[in-house]
Amino acid sequence: MIKIPRGTQDILPEDSAKWRYIENKLDGLMELYNYKEIHTPIFESTELFARGVGNSTDVVQKEMYTFKDKGERSLTLRPEGTASVVRSYIEHKMQGNPNQPVKLYYNGPMFRYERKQKGRYRQFNQFGVEAIGAENPSMDAEVLAMVMHIYESFGLKHLKLVINSIGDSESRKEYNDALVKHFEPVIDTFCSDCQSRLHTNPMRILDCKVDKDKEAVKNAPRITDYLNDESKTYYEEVKKHLDVLNISYVEDPNLVRGLDYYTHTAFELMMDNPNYDGAITTLCGGGRYNGLLQLLGGPEETGIGFALSIERLLLALEEESISLDVEEELDLFIVTMGQEADNYAVKLLNKLRKNNIKADKDYLNRKIKGQMKQADRLNANYTIVIGDQELENNAINVKDMVTGESEKIQLDQLVNYFIK
Ligand code: HAM
Repeated sequence: MIKIPRGTQDILPEDSAKWRYIENKLDGLMELYNYKEIHTPIFESTELFARGVGNSTDVVQKEMYTFKDKGERSLTLRPEGTASVVRSYIEHKMQGNPNQPVKLYYNGPMFRYERKQKGRYRQFNQFGVEAIGAENPSMDAEVLAMVMHIYESFGLKHLKLVINSIGDSESRKEYNDALVKHFEPVIDTFCSDCQSRLHTNPMRILDCKVDKDKEAVKNAPRITDYLNDESKTYYEEVKKHLDVLNISYVEDPNLVRGLDYYTHTAFELMMDNPNYDGAITTLCGGGRYNGLLQLLGGPEETGIGFALSIERLLLALEEESISLDVEEELDLFIVTMGQEADNYAVKLLNKLRKNNIKADKDYLNRKIKGQMKQADRLNANYTIVIGDQELENNAINVKDMVTGESEKIQLDQLVNYFIK
């Protein structure tokens, strides 16, 4: 038997209803914040992620699904959405759009070759937003407020927003020099990836999954001590907005994020449920990326965004025992007795459905009792039983499945009855 690839999952109909509920809710929230949906391809040139996400990140070094197409082009299944959205922004010259900033959102599958765990998949669905064209602390605050609004609107309570500032490129340079000085004497005890990161991208050492518990990582210099005045002021302004909005947060000077493009504000939303025993607690992550557009050959615009996976949102809902209101129901189930009645039901169903009435019938020649059970299983609000007599008399009993009461009406008026 051929099995599903490792790290992927089928979303079966009962779960699809939950997905649709979540996606509809997210779409509604995006309207409130005035973000417009964008779709980009599922594969892109490998170079986009190598340059955008960063050659020395784990995502690019170890986790990408990269392949050559028949024209020998190197393509990669997107591991994240930001680089693609920024590429599209540049390609479509969205900086010329009079509506600035350009506020976009996306929702679709991403691919990372990661070790499978509860909440960590090789194909997962990211919902994300990118606001490009405004370097303003209030923009950062809006994005953070959205993150909280999204999770709180599902009724989640055990949440912890963790923030940090990674500063601008000048602060980063100072900080990187300090990291090199700090790690150089002990780098021999680190994994080979970290050894090569020391001079190319020392910040990535802080993010290494292998060496994360080493003493030198724990007492490494902190970016917050290297922020220049401009970066400090920007960070302070963002926090002031959060205070005004009553958004609680904790600061973590070690939060550097796993992708290279971040500058200034960086954040993650964590599950904060003391009873949770899974390893994966990050629900959502994001931050500002002021250099990314230029790095990808674009204009001097800046952006900020975040992404969350629907899989982890569902995990959090499960942890807090929150069930979504996704019960599906039918308006009408038609029970038939005999071939003639069944033929009539085929025509009737066609009419009902074309009038937006959700209806179904039996297809397995079940006995009446079995058909009634099927109506129950399908959560039908009403049933009718059609037999020779009903056809002959043009009369039918419409049974309300909740109250158990019946109403007699003319069979040829059934569609109108349901329309009303
Ligand atoms: P990221 O932190 O790599 O950031 O991923 C964002 C979110 O995607 C995570 O917090 C998690 O919910 C989900 N996620 C990541 N990997 C997996 C996985 N293997 N299985 C399930 N869920 C996963 C980004 O991707 C950035 N593009 C976010 C961003 C947007 N920054 C600025 N704009």
